[in-house]
Amino acid sequence: MAVALVTGASTGIGKATAIRLARDPGTELVLVARREEMLRELAESLPCPATYLAVDLTADDAPRRVRAHLEAEHGGALHLLVNNAGAAWRGSFAETGYANVRRHMELNFDAVVRLTEALLPLLRASAPSAMVNVASTAGRVSRARTGAYSASKFALIGWTDSLYAEEKAHGVHIGMVLPGFVRTEGFPATELREKALTRWIVSEPETVAEAIHQCGPGGRAERYVPRPYGVAAALRILAPSLVRRVLSGGAASNLTTSTAADRDQGPNPG
Ligand SMILES: NC(=O)c1ccc[n+]([C@@H]2O[C@H](COP(=O)([O-])OP(=O)(O)OC[C@H]3O[C@@H](n4cnc5c(N)ncnc54)[C@H](OP(=O)(O)O)[C@@H]3O)[C@@H](O)[C@H]2O)c1
Repeated sequence: MAVALVTGASTGIGKATAIRLARDPGTELVLVARREEMLRELAESLPCPATYLAVDLTADDAPRRVRAHLEAEHGGALHLLVNNAGAAWRGSFAETGYANVRRHMELNFDAVVRLTEALLPLLRASAPSAMVNVASTAGRVSRARTGAYSASKFALIGWTDSLYAEEKAHGVHIGMVLPGFVRTEGFPATELREKALTRWIVSEPETVAEAIHQCGPGGRAERYVPRPYGVAAALRILAPSLVRRVLSGGAASNLTTSTAADRDQGPNPG
């Protein structure tokens, strides 16, 4: 059996990834997120063995609990770790301040690093194995009102590149996926889907799940989803003044989206 753990598996990209991985013969899944009922329903609907653990990944004891679950339920084996759980709270820095940067870092960066620290020994012991970090095109190109989110994804990308080089010799492949706009519960992209001008740039979680599969079991290092988003990342390096002009001009407001986290908790964590 190949044991694969997906964080943020209750909805969106993580759920689609669990469903995609479950199609591979011999897969045993571990589903992690906070909402237990959704994890249980998904585990019961999958065509492969699946266990689940409801945990807030920002909690101090989360890494220890996830590792204990793997040891108790899966003999400590881990062949694939998908670090996918994440969220975004929109708002300018002047409005939301350091508190908003901190909560993004806690979930989108620190929680990933802390979980990886706890599980890397299991990945190495199960090698050949793989880890896929779900970053974002926003980790290459930053827009207004998404600075805190972008900072957390820029950090994730830098750290992931380093880990790729370090873990190669240990048989742990490190892959990374950089989605653009994807329609999910957390990132509904309603503003983009309502306009004919921008509707076509929104993709589906299943497309990202396929890219995660390619960057995990498939052994690829990196994938933008959809692929043309890579052009924006390249332009940021090759033509920075052009990108700055476009993203600080009036047309950039067409790319403004709100998230579920905005609705649930408001833009300012205080
Ligand atoms: N959709 C996009 O446009 C887009 C674009 C680029 C990158 N991404 C990245 O893709 C990843 C998945 O996002 P998504 O679009 O699928 O959003 P989503 O539908 O909101 O899914 C986020 C997942 O993370 C889990 N989660 C959130 N906070 C958590 C916490 N504290 N502890 C444990 N689990 C937590 C949520 O489950 P519970 O609420 O049950 O805990 C949920 O399963 C994120 O890292 C996001 O940054 C998304």
